[in-house]
Amino acid sequence: MYTQAMDTTAAGEAPKARRSAEEMQLQERFDARIDAGDFIEAKDWMPEHYRKTLVRQISQHAHSEIVGMLPEGNWISRAPTLKRKAILLAKVQDEGGHGLYLYAAAETLGTSRDQLFDALHTGRAKYSSIFNYPTLSWADMGTIGWLVDGAAIMNQVPICRCSYAPYARAMIRICREESFHQRQGFEALLTMMTKGTAAQKAMVQDAVNRWWWPSIMMFGPPDDESPNSAQSMRWGIKRVSNDELRQRFIDATVDQAKLLGVTLPDPDLKWNEARQSHDFGVIDWSEFKRVIAGDGPCNRERLAARVKAWNDGAWVRDAATAHANKQTMKEAA
Ligand SMILES: [Fe+2]
Ligand SMILES: [Fe+2]
Repeated sequence: MYTQAMDTTAAGEAPKARRSAEEMQLQERFDARIDAGDFIEAKDWMPEHYRKTLVRQISQHAHSEIVGMLPEGNWISRAPTLKRKAILLAKVQDEGGHGLYLYAAAETLGTSRDQLFDALHTGRAKYSSIFNYPTLSWADMGTIGWLVDGAAIMNQVPICRCSYAPYARAMIRICREESFHQRQGFEALLTMMTKGTAAQKAMVQDAVNRWWWPSIMMFGPPDDESPNSAQSMRWGIKRVSNDELRQRFIDATVDQAKLLGVTLPDPDLKWNEARQSHDFGVIDWSEFKRVIAGDGPCNRERLAARVKAWNDGAWVRDAATAHANKQTMKEAA
């Protein structure tokens, strides 16, 4: 799903102080290509800082996809109908696929998948903070689709034009699938709100109350507190700022909430005629920082689940490696 706060961990490595004439020429050519809106391919020369920024962002994105399978996977066995179960299964499976495309894109930059997983499992790598919140009711499945996948689409559509081509290509397919995720979530909520009992409607409102603020935090810290954003914009990795994306998401979501008949839990949310946008209340960034730092409601549980899955799968990796070695030896013979 979900890039968020991909530039919050500030890796700001300083560019090398001394460069050879050849390197400077390569840098100039690279800058000119970026300025011209060209795409950079894996085999092309790129500055080390650009490469590292991309590895960090793409791998955090990949981790977010596969950690994002956990809160919803929790509800597959409890879906209310066969149709809802099939939809949820397909969605969770899509997220696994998104993780795989993105790990593959990160690998084109010269970092192995083992290294990427190791960073996740040892807690060095971040993933989207939204997945550290618990899924308490069936209405959370619809709400995640509507708000979390909705925020993910808003965030990810501009990445389809990211200057690094393998990432941009992966994002095109991912965005198409995210669109299905958002629609199925909205439709599940609309069904509950139009055909459901009073208790089911209350369940939807409760889920929206819990997911609204974490969803708008998904766009990352305000622009003036997002130190890596300017460089990422300069490189064409990021195309639209955090605050601009957040505003677009809020403006799009208010009408959808009206259609559903739910209230968004922000008393300060109102239309501003002069700005032609919605004003909204103050975001509790201390909560965001706490969750990113590892102290959200489910951080430990999520990481433990990923580490367990990795350890449980060791025999599969060993068997696949043994088989591959055997094939290589056969072919050599
Ligand atoms: Fe999704
Ligand atoms: Fe996804």
